[in-house]
Amino acid sequence: MLPSAMHSSETRQDAARLTFPAGFGWGAATSAYQIEGAAKEDGRGPSVWDVFSHEPGRVRNGDTGDVAADHYHRLGEDLDLMRDLGLTSYRFSIAWPRVLPTGRGAVNAKGLDFYQRLVDGLLKRGIAPVATLFHWDTPQALQDLGGWENRDCANWFADYAHTMFTALGDRVPTWLTLNEPKTVVDVGYTAGTHAPGKQDRQLANVVGHHLLLGHGLAVQALRGTAAKGRIGAALSLSPTYPADDTEAARRQAEIADGEENRRWLDPLFKGRYPQDWLAAQAPDAPVRTAIRDGDLAIISAQNDVLGVNYYGTTHVTGTGARVMLHPTSQATWQEISPDGLHDLLTRIKRDHGDIPLTITENGLPTTNPLKDTDRITFLRDHLTAAHRAIQDGVKLESYHLWSLLDNFEWAEGYTQRWGIVNVDFATQQRKRKASADWYRGVIAANGL
Ligand code: FCB
Repeated sequence: MLPSAMHSSETRQDAARLTFPAGFGWGAATSAYQIEGAAKEDGRGPSVWDVFSHEPGRVRNGDTGDVAADHYHRLGEDLDLMRDLGLTSYRFSIAWPRVLPTGRGAVNAKGLDFYQRLVDGLLKRGIAPVATLFHWDTPQALQDLGGWENRDCANWFADYAHTMFTALGDRVPTWLTLNEPKTVVDVGYTAGTHAPGKQDRQLANVVGHHLLLGHGLAVQALRGTAAKGRIGAALSLSPTYPADDTEAARRQAEIADGEENRRWLDPLFKGRYPQDWLAAQAPDAPVRTAIRDGDLAIISAQNDVLGVNYYGTTHVTGTGARVMLHPTSQATWQEISPDGLHDLLTRIKRDHGDIPLTITENGLPTTNPLKDTDRITFLRDHLTAAHRAIQDGVKLESYHLWSLLDNFEWAEGYTQRWGIVNVDFATQQRKRKASADWYRGVIAANGL
């Protein structure tokens, strides 16, 4: 080796104090409704979020995803942006009603073509596509039939999934069925502040089961095609802790863990709902009849991979009240704790074995348009925690920060900026924030 080459490789290693495993996937995540716009173009049908965001009072400032970050029209530019950052993985979602405008039936060729171009464009730039099938945008035509409240929705979803596996299965290495079913249940159906805006806990739990069933049927559908990729779900998980050193708080933390984590993890990986969670449901709770014989076998059949969305921890008092013991962000539900990520990843290994993991979301909103040093600190701390988990034997394969671009943050509209790339929504101009340049360096060094 030439001395100069040796020197440069040494500096590289020195520069990266924490080196990630060779081939570690460095990514960013987005979702269709939050960035695509083109809500009525090329035959796209409405989703529950189109309808919901147009209802007065639902979204801050009356914002909608009609235009969002206009990604549908700026695909080439955004792909180049990803390439320039050095991304090796990109997690996006497919808008079900763009491909199937009424959720079922004939495929909308122009809608499907967009995702063909996206996947081909990623591969051409050496970026691995991670495709999410459902990031909350249920076709409104199916919602009119009850949406996920209707057990049939699980089959409609599997049929749509089958369409996508057939179209893109030769090129997509990783599929994710659902994004955060918990948020649909808790925010869309209990708090009612997300689409479809219902406030019915009993119905919410039924929806939760049907979502899991849809996941299982989609996994089955993949196995029935020539698709080569792996498949799993993306869950929002939050380690729960007692807020004080009392027996009551410890008990409440265990109950909260059932709701936050085990209620989703156990059906997928153990083929059963947690005993304590089930026991807490009333004898006549509709979810009990929604869970039919054989469902859990379908739900748990061979998950190849698990997507982890991690935003922070949950602390509860002896009365079960949530308290914040760590800093928050503009997203006031967020309790920032990098150590929680290490706890979570090692706990998944402990409870469910060596399932390959990918962090599918992790991030925070910041207010400085370009100098987002607070985001750099957040990302550095969380990557350090993730690295520690890898050293402890966790099979973490990749990391996707949330998010590539500033985007439509659901009920918060455009008031929260989660991107490493600033979007001027008046001109749609993209500008890299400080965190984007920092992340680029991390990727180049395969570490920090
Ligand atoms: C997650 C969502 C994602 C984004 C982030 C901030 O719950 O999956 O779409 O809104 O929160």
